[in-house]
Amino acid sequence: MRILSGIQPSGALHIGNYFGMIRPALELARQGDAFYFIADYHALTSVAEPDALRRNVRAMAVDLLALGLEPARTVFFRQSDVPEVTELAWILSTVTPLGLLERGHAYKDKVQKGLAATHGLFAYPVLMAADILLYRTDVVPVGEDQRQHLEIARDIAAKLNQQYGPVLTLPQGSIQREVAAVPGLDGQKMSKSYGNTIEIFADERTLRRRCMSIKTDALPVEAPKDPAQSVPLALYRLFAPPAEVETTTARYRKGGLGYAELKLMLFEQAWAHFGPARERREALDADPAAVERVLADGAARARAVARVTLDAVRHAVGLR
Ligand code: ADP
Ligand code: TRP
Repeated sequence: MRILSGIQPSGALHIGNYFGMIRPALELARQGDAFYFIADYHALTSVAEPDALRRNVRAMAVDLLALGLEPARTVFFRQSDVPEVTELAWILSTVTPLGLLERGHAYKDKVQKGLAATHGLFAYPVLMAADILLYRTDVVPVGEDQRQHLEIARDIAAKLNQQYGPVLTLPQGSIQREVAAVPGLDGQKMSKSYGNTIEIFADERTLRRRCMSIKTDALPVEAPKDPAQSVPLALYRLFAPPAEVETTTARYRKGGLGYAELKLMLFEQAWAHFGPARERREALDADPAAVERVLADGAARARAVARVTLDAVRHAVGLR
């Protein structure tokens, strides 16, 4: 089973990225043959500063390795180290109905948030389809917000197969139900673009401050509270062991557990949870050449697979 996922190097990782995508992807990697990459071509649609892009790619590589990505069993690479993907994206674009892209909500959302309305941003899902199809992917672990992009990739693959014969493998999604959308400080989906994130590798003071600033109502400590409506409780549940979750939820429902105490409990869980990863991150940061070697090795392995698919597609469409 081929598993593949990508993440844009467009800023610091937050706990929505972690529980929504990174952790499920790392777990899944143990069950098959995983290809994970840093989507730097995609990031060009939002990061316009070359040094910032390079810095972000390096930081993302370090963060993912620190969080447990194992390069010995996972092909880990930088998207742009396998430029074959852009050729496949072009070929795919010639069978992609315009209407399919016009229905995409990510484009409209991103333009509304201030990203430049470029062709690259519009064609983003075609490049993503090329990522998935180039490596003959079966399963794509991503968060709920990527569901439509997966459907587009399947549609494009089906189109190409219909027109030229069965050359491409149709991917399945893999979206974990319970953690489909991690809420942010304000209760909306946690996202960099809403400024409502809790960053995984924030320093201790910042992490505490972020946890304490989760928006809550004015109910007093003694008041019984509804566990289903609580952002701090939802976040705490992601970290705490099941027995503790049960006691805490019961106290919350009954009254006697105030928001400040709960937020502090969340901070303590989160800080402890990422402790080992923080240590690994420091070691990796001190050895940039080792990180570069991992990415170079991943690129060589990815490229070998990419070449085979691209040759089959070129042949199928009559490019040689
Ligand atoms: P952001 O919304 O902060 O810009 P990205 O779009 O870069 O995050 O998402 C990277 C990955 O993390 C995607 O697979 C996405 O589905 C997942 N993800 C992002 N935010 C959340 C969230 N709040 N809950 C669950 N998954 C998320
Ligand atoms: N679009 C994804 C995101 O914003 C990143 C991505 C690019 C991706 N190519 C991919 C994810 C291929 C899965 C598979 O999070």
